[in-house]
Amino acid sequence: MLKLLCFSLFVYSASGYFTLPGKCPENVDVPNDFKLADFYGKWYQAYHYSSDGQMRNNCSQLTLDTKPSGIYLNQSRVDRGLFHRYSIAKINIPTRIEDAANMNIKFTFNDAPRRLKVRIYPFRVLATNYNYYATVYTCQYSPLINKHYIYVWILSRNPILNDVSLELAVKPLSKIGLTLKDIVKDDISNCSPKYYDDFENKPTTFNYPVPI
Ligand SMILES: *[C@@H]1O[C@H](CO)[C@@H](O)[C@H](O)[C@H]1NC(C)=O
Ligand SMILES: *[C@@H]1O[C@H](CO)[C@@H](O)[C@H](O)[C@H]1NC(C)=O
Repeated sequence: MLKLLCFSLFVYSASGYFTLPGKCPENVDVPNDFKLADFYGKWYQAYHYSSDGQMRNNCSQLTLDTKPSGIYLNQSRVDRGLFHRYSIAKINIPTRIEDAANMNIKFTFNDAPRRLKVRIYPFRVLATNYNYYATVYTCQYSPLINKHYIYVWILSRNPILNDVSLELAVKPLSKIGLTLKDIVKDDISNCSPKYYDDFENKPTTFNYPVPI
């Protein structure tokens, strides 16, 4: 009975997140000359697309840090104008050089049930010139309700992205059926949260443990 209830709750909440019918788009190709080392450092989320239409990842920054144990992605946001939140994932580096842009990121949730402790999500760099813009895409599929969720980051090295870079960043999105009018410009005028409180939390752009 409890299982059934949990299952219904999952389907109920997931149906607001996974809204696009069917599986993730196939053959979303990435550049074959991506250089991760040039991608390190801090990026601002200048524009984004979230297929569920939610705005839960405001004032977001992505930072790639190298540590002795690997390369980590720190994704931060400002929650309801009140708090800083961030999530740390480890980058799984593809073994083939041509696949370098086809990254996955791995979250470890130590307090989750064993089955859900480790979660891996795609993190694909569709385009970048390293110094100004980058377009990153993730897609997650729920076999349970046969729907998928897409999130796109249009990242910028500076808080404001110039128009030429924006145009280049949006170009590869045609592969997943998106154009300039589908993406949302991030409002960066209100990015100082009311309370100084900076701690780790689950990311809003990778919500459910889905099989890859
Ligand atoms: C992650 O990034 C945010 C925003 O730059 C920062 O406030 C936070 O301290 C960082 N967390 C870690 C563990 O580096
Ligand atoms: C994000 O920003 C929008 C408006 O800019 C606001 O309506 C929304 O509540 C914010 N969401 C969160 C989770 O901070």
